[in-house]
Amino acid sequence: MPTALTLHGAAIDIAPGALATLGARVLARCPAHRIVIIADQTVAALYGDKAVAAFAPAEFPPLLLTFPAGEKHKSRSTWGTLTDQMIAAGCGRDTVVVALGGGVTGDLAGFVAATYLRGIPYVQVPSTLLAMIDSSIGGKTGVDTSAGKNLVGAFHHPALVVTDPRLLSTLPPKELRLGLAEAIKHGVIADAAYFGWIATGLRQILHGDRPDDETALRLVQRSVEIKVQVVRQDEREAGLRKVLNFGHTIGHAVEQVTGYGVAHGEAVAIGMVAEAIMAERLRLAERGLADAIATVCDAAGLPVRLPEHVSPAEVVTATRTDKKARAGHVEYALPRALGEMAGSETQYGVRVTDADALRALEHL
Ligand SMILES: NC(=O)c1ccc[n+]([C@@H]2O[C@H](COP(=O)([O-])OP(=O)(O)OC[C@H]3O[C@@H](n4cnc5c(N)ncnc54)[C@H](O)[C@@H]3O)[C@@H](O)[C@H]2O)c1
Ligand SMILES: [Zn+2]
Repeated sequence: MPTALTLHGAAIDIAPGALATLGARVLARCPAHRIVIIADQTVAALYGDKAVAAFAPAEFPPLLLTFPAGEKHKSRSTWGTLTDQMIAAGCGRDTVVVALGGGVTGDLAGFVAATYLRGIPYVQVPSTLLAMIDSSIGGKTGVDTSAGKNLVGAFHHPALVVTDPRLLSTLPPKELRLGLAEAIKHGVIADAAYFGWIATGLRQILHGDRPDDETALRLVQRSVEIKVQVVRQDEREAGLRKVLNFGHTIGHAVEQVTGYGVAHGEAVAIGMVAEAIMAERLRLAERGLADAIATVCDAAGLPVRLPEHVSPAEVVTATRTDKKARAGHVEYALPRALGEMAGSETQYGVRVTDADALRALEHL
């Protein structure tokens, strides 16, 4: 069953096959003379023609702009090339940008839209599981610099999100698994039944590494609902939105000490297990929670231990540079139970000492 959710007044349309009717969906929401579709070369090769055809017949056919796939191209240099191409094509304020791709494309094209002529509308068409359930929602756009990820950016909400879970059928299995880490996180922070469904349905979700229509729709839909609910209640990240950081304080530290050798979803899986152990040790959570999370992550093919060459101590040191670090201690978003977060009385930030964090990591 297709479903519609909204955030910032913008619909998030989730429907298998939605890409075929992209043109009508976009133009109903943002009447525009020019459509600029931005995609990386991999996604453009798979879906570029279909996306362009979805706008026919159009006064001006959409302009398809591409860049090489990969995080290293989420850069100011690619932003410069894309905006130059739009200027050369004479794109005015009556242009809408369509970000067709994973989180790299969404962040980059969203930043192009946020800055082009001081801001024009854009539509997210996420094509990875991570982009469908995470990066396309929340309005964060930006690019990386050599000093770090996402250092230059802007909040710019899409006018519309068109999510076609069928695009997952071509996603490499590893990318699907990385996205599953965020879905598992959504279950832990907000919905024990969803967590249970992922746990028991994993084989089906990963069946041939490609979920069927019904499974993909349910997976994407429930995760999106959870993220929307959290973001809607806390736009400025003053409190509740912190719960989305579950697994991410340790996760970011693991990414950092491995020089991003461990992928984000993998680092988040390790982080969720470590942080659940912290919650158990601090008696915020019942025993067994970390094991339950580890079992699901493991079944999803995600790591639940630090890589051998990484020491717990260096990970703890790296948490100190995480932007969530406050003087003298680090604040974590920790679970109380499956589907429920601890620390509602302290805006969902739980102070954890380095010694406690270290013991949890040694326990992995
Ligand atoms: N804005 C936010 O709130 C937010 C949240 C989380 C992550 N992010 C960002 O998202 C980025 C990671 O996103 P990602 O994991 O989607 O990476 P990605 O965009 O690089 O996509 C991963 C790979 O999959 C390929 N691909 C995408 N869709 C495909 C499909 N349907 N079929 C076959 N191949 C496909 C891409 O070409 C790429 O090689 C990071 O830059 C991260 O900072 C942003
Ligand atoms: Zn994440």
